[in-house]
Amino acid sequence: MDKNKPDDTHSHLTRRELLLATAGVAALHTAATASAADAATASATATTPPSTAAAASPSAVTGAPVAPAVVGPFSLPALPFADAALDPVISANTLGFHYGKHHRAYVDNLNKAVAGTPYADMALDKIIAATYGVADKSAVYNNASQHWNHSFYWRSLRPQGGGEPPAALRLKLETSFGSVDACRKELLTAATTEFGSGWAWLVQDGGRLAVVKTGNADSPASKGQRPLLTIDVWEHAYYLDYQNKRADYVAGVIGKLLNWGFAADNLGVA
Ligand SMILES: [Fe+2]
Repeated sequence: MDKNKPDDTHSHLTRRELLLATAGVAALHTAATASAADAATASATATTPPSTAAAASPSAVTGAPVAPAVVGPFSLPALPFADAALDPVISANTLGFHYGKHHRAYVDNLNKAVAGTPYADMALDKIIAATYGVADKSAVYNNASQHWNHSFYWRSLRPQGGGEPPAALRLKLETSFGSVDACRKELLTAATTEFGSGWAWLVQDGGRLAVVKTGNADSPASKGQRPLLTIDVWEHAYYLDYQNKRADYVAGVIGKLLNWGFAADNLGVA
């Protein structure tokens, strides 16, 4: 056979080989159709605000296959860092579960809860404000607020963070707390003394900065305070790495991961 004439190969295919080849084409077609459907789903999901439009697949974090997201107006925001970038304070394993499973579940459950309701056309912060304290809307509220809180938490962290705040923020911190160290200590105390699941926050409260804590899904924004930074103290945020030693996780976050620049941006003094 002339190897320069590949068409000759076809004349040697058996009926079995032809059937297998046909099946292969069919499988490729199925795969291509599935990929197109996935792309359409991703496109439909990525219709949320700009900060969350770049919906990252959690598989990019965990490397593991994940179930398709629930299609809806809200989507999981892309993480602002690589999955191992916060190691060793927060391991890639913890991040994979926290972001890829827990945060993702809040987004999926929110999309389910708002389907066919007026909330489906509302901005996330408007949903939180409208459902705060409304007993029969707790599923919408809890998932909406947890989605907001987690999106804010990821941006409150950065690799090689901690250290000293930008100068303008430092002045504000010194005015309100006496020193940056005093602010750090208040954050540590708030984060370690919150009973059960919750959050520790640096906020702007009127003309001063303050540290507050909230339980479960609550946000200081519901009380008119402006969030500047947050630390998640739900057990899922640290238990794989620290077990019951919440204080070690919090100290690591404050010392090595806090994104002071994000707080300065939120305060408008960057
Ligand atoms: Fe969390």
